[in-house]
Amino acid sequence: MQSFDTNTNDVAQSPDRNQTFVVGGTDDLPPGACIRFALPDGDELAVYNVNGEYYATENFCPHRGALLSEGALCGHIIECGLHGWRFDVRTGECLTVRERIRTYRVKVEEGLVKVEV
Ligand code: FES
Repeated sequence: MQSFDTNTNDVAQSPDRNQTFVVGGTDDLPPGACIRFALPDGDELAVYNVNGEYYATENFCPHRGALLSEGALCGHIIECGLHGWRFDVRTGECLTVRERIRTYRVKVEEGLVKVEV
């Protein structure tokens, strides 16, 4: 999986004071792909392209911390590569146990994939 440098001038503040991060270009994230993006505070995002729709979740699996960006994306479901917990990337709902991961709003502007954190 790809990782993108967070030391960029592409960070912008939105009016509601959330931060928006450019995680890459649409060319970096073709349908069926998932990329890893490191935030300045050490947290990470997993950003997915599901048939042209983009989604973002936290990247660390709540079970044992594996990187969801290294899991298997099948439709809207990301399956953790370590023990197989499955999450719906649209809602963050875990389909394996009663658990949930954070999700983030994604938008595409001028060929750039941006995530509001
Ligand atoms: S670390 Fe993800 S299922 Fe165990």
